[in-house]
Amino acid sequence: MDEYLGLITGGGDCPGLNAVIRAVVRRADAGKKTVLGIHSGWIGLVEGDIEPLTRSSVAGIQYRGGTILGTSRFNPLDDKESLQKIRHNWRKFGINSLIVARGNGTLSASMRMWKEEGYPIVGIPKTIDNDIEGTDYTFGFDTAVSIATEAIDRLHTTAEAHHRVMVVEVMGRHSGWIATHAGIAGAADIILIPEIPFRISAICDMLSKRKDMGRPFSIVVVAEDARPDKDEDFLSDEEKSQIYREEHLGGIGHFVGLEIGKRTGLPARVAVLGYIQRGGTPTAYDRVLATRMGVYAVEMTMRGEFGHMAALRGPDIVSVPLEQVANIRKPVSREIYRTAEVFFG
Ligand code: F6P
Repeated sequence: MDEYLGLITGGGDCPGLNAVIRAVVRRADAGKKTVLGIHSGWIGLVEGDIEPLTRSSVAGIQYRGGTILGTSRFNPLDDKESLQKIRHNWRKFGINSLIVARGNGTLSASMRMWKEEGYPIVGIPKTIDNDIEGTDYTFGFDTAVSIATEAIDRLHTTAEAHHRVMVVEVMGRHSGWIATHAGIAGAADIILIPEIPFRISAICDMLSKRKDMGRPFSIVVVAEDARPDKDEDFLSDEEKSQIYREEHLGGIGHFVGLEIGKRTGLPARVAVLGYIQRGGTPTAYDRVLATRMGVYAVEMTMRGEFGHMAALRGPDIVSVPLEQVANIRKPVSREIYRTAEVFFG
């Protein structure tokens, strides 16, 4: 009897998802399994929007951004009717096991679908944010950092030409991985991350000192969820509710830029990189990581390692229980941030 392996890409898209799809299909094909591609995240399993993926349907996709399966942030556990439909379609399509490539919050949905609903699921961590506990890196992150770094390089030259402060807002949700890595690579003068509340007075002092030392231009990298220290909070409640929306963070860069201008008199401009960081061609590093995780995840289903995810630990891909990592956000490494701080000011 044929073995059917379902494949879902869910949560926010990230560069490397197509490389993972190709890898899953190729490894399954070599193991005589058929991959059923489920469209638009869990919604595809609810609606039966499912198609077999073949070697030819995934040929030449590893360098493309996005995901040929589409994605959504839909969580089936919120809705009884969806769970019933999933049960029906699971049987109808004869699915034996399921691989889910997902981000942080949504890996915990996979964990619950395995633990509470009994589905044999293997997870693959993916996100530009690199905030998933249990894996050193997620694919998508390296591409996002490369894009943000290139943007900072470009902003550097215009900041220098005009003697301006450039505030660059980057993504990362509740963690500062993208900000810290891109900030180090792009030689940022200050990096603000959610893990460490910032003091606007210290930032303004630093920027003014740079000007006095004959460096009137600066780059300030701000993670989208960076927050002012409560002792120096300059945001109104209304501004906070605009910026820190769980479903759509963004805008802190604008207010940091305004505050710098007000307090220092330095001309400040703001660039919000937004979704550009998530789009387009994955780097070679992300393609390789995604490919390794895809191959390994199929082998995990063959070994029956359900309720686990593939993870990068040092040089190796390993299997990690979802229970150990679900709902835990991996903060920026202190060592990396300390390294960044050496170059502040
Ligand atoms: O998790 C990836 C990410 O791009 C975050 O950095 C960002 O906060 C969020 O997704 C944006 O989500 P959405 O695509 O739902 O607007």
